[in-house]
Amino acid sequence: MHVSRLAAVGEMAAGVAHELNQPLAAVANYAQACERLLGLPAPDLEEIRDALRQITAQAVRAGDIISRLRGLTRPRDSIGELTDVNALIRELADLIESDARVHESNCRFELTEGLNPLTLDRAQIQQVVFALVRNALEALDESPLGAREVVIATSRATDGDILIEVRDNGPGISPDIVQRLFDPFCTTKMAGTGLGLASSRTIARTYGGTLEHRPNLPTGACFVLRLPSPARR
Ligand SMILES: Nc1ncnc2c1ncn2[C@@H]1O[C@H](COP(=O)(O)OP(=O)(O)OP(=O)(O)O)[C@@H](O)[C@H]1O
Ligand SMILES: [Mg+2]
Repeated sequence: MHVSRLAAVGEMAAGVAHELNQPLAAVANYAQACERLLGLPAPDLEEIRDALRQITAQAVRAGDIISRLRGLTRPRDSIGELTDVNALIRELADLIESDARVHESNCRFELTEGLNPLTLDRAQIQQVVFALVRNALEALDESPLGAREVVIATSRATDGDILIEVRDNGPGISPDIVQRLFDPFCTTKMAGTGLGLASSRTIARTYGGTLEHRPNLPTGACFVLRLPSPARR
């Protein structure tokens, strides 16, 4: 276990180094460009301003990566408040629907009424749902127009746990990464960080819950967030 943990730390460090290297190299390049531009007899202030904006954007990006990394390990700091899971999803509906429009996809809500309220930090669970929906919409970009659909469903499992499911009819998880799906920095996207599922699973676990993937039939991916009923915690 110790060895495999060390290996995981090594992989993680390599991932962090890689992710942070890009914005840091960009900051250094733009800063050098500024210095060079300022050395010209008639410096183009607009060009310098552009370079400075890039520096800000890249620094914000690096900061964002670090704060998302913290999310992988941070223990739950608030136990939260009694929350209706459907209400938490309805609050996100506008955001999800507008994101779906951008990805030319349809989204559907199948919310089961009468679920027991759970003690949660609603923002954390919303972050998980949104990360799953984002992934679904990004996957659907590869599917033909017209058929693209994301379903966000809530239900009660037979043991009383509450289930939140996000399903899509996209291409499904690539077989190359299905084993590593929840590992930090596992990504197939050009602009992806690979932290969405890893931090979502950490959040699920802080509530004694789970986050699992299963294939959606006939095509696509389904992610199930299981939150234990208060009686089982
Ligand atoms: N619904 C889905 N359909 C197909 N592949 C998916 C789906 N959800 C996740 N994946 C695959 O799992 C990988 C990891 O997802 P994750 O959300 O952790 O990272 P990411 O989306 O690549 O980057 P980030 O969320 O940090 O922007 C994705 O790159 C993608 O290949
Ligand atoms: Mg993602």
